[in-house]
Amino acid sequence: MSDHPAGDLAALRLHLEWGADEALQATPLDRLRPPDPIPPNAIPPDSIPPRPAPPITALPAHAAADAASLAAAAMDVAALRAALAGFTGCALSETATNLVFADGNPNAALMLIGEAPGAEEDRAGRPFVGPSGQLLDRMLASIGLDRGSVLITNLLPWRPPGNRNPTDQEVALCLPFLLRHIALVRPRHLVLLGALATRALSGSGAGIRRLRGKWLALDIPGLEAKLPALPMFHPAYLLRNPAAKRESWADLLSLKRALDEFFTKSTDKNLL
Ligand code: URA
Repeated sequence: MSDHPAGDLAALRLHLEWGADEALQATPLDRLRPPDPIPPNAIPPDSIPPRPAPPITALPAHAAADAASLAAAAMDVAALRAALAGFTGCALSETATNLVFADGNPNAALMLIGEAPGAEEDRAGRPFVGPSGQLLDRMLASIGLDRGSVLITNLLPWRPPGNRNPTDQEVALCLPFLLRHIALVRPRHLVLLGALATRALSGSGAGIRRLRGKWLALDIPGLEAKLPALPMFHPAYLLRNPAAKRESWADLLSLKRALDEFFTKSTDKNLL
């Protein structure tokens, strides 16, 4: 704290606005403090060769193997949740407040997959409870659905600090858990909310503008049949681009038609 509390507060607000809203160390680091004097017999810092930065896209082999085997060993959703809670291979779990696993009906025929928890989801430990979640609830209500009739989860179960984009490495470490979650729930349809979930699950490099509204048939390990999946714009994108709601409305109608058709044919109506 300086002699200017109002300035400190403004600086703190600016940090929050720019995404520096997570404490990464227990004690603060004063980066403005003058450097400590160099002891006379110390090796001059310039003569120590700089260490190469770790390659940020390389996947630590043991963490990837742990993720795959922990996910595969989970025989039900509760075991999968426990396996994720105990998984330390993804550094996001260290900065997140809570594991954000899923919300809704674990037997639902429709599973929605978002990107990653934001600040409010991180605090609550539930997906889609902030502004984009409220829009998602209204979108679902518009076709007669609610959290009692769908299951909602995310590609990543931990919040990336400051809502930054997750790295490819983080996505690769969390994907085995999501695939296992889908295989255990055995939904009849998926909705992929946004570019990141669509890319991770479809493997397609095509953008969300091209893929949204087009039903994909996904191969999910552990499921015998291909699973129909509908990419849609992420609700957070719709909040920033209200004009795109028109396309999302068309996608919601397409989703409703697919669900109606499934429930007309299906005898197992207690799924939704
Ligand atoms: N955005 C997401 O993708 N998921 C959430 O849970 C919240 C916001």
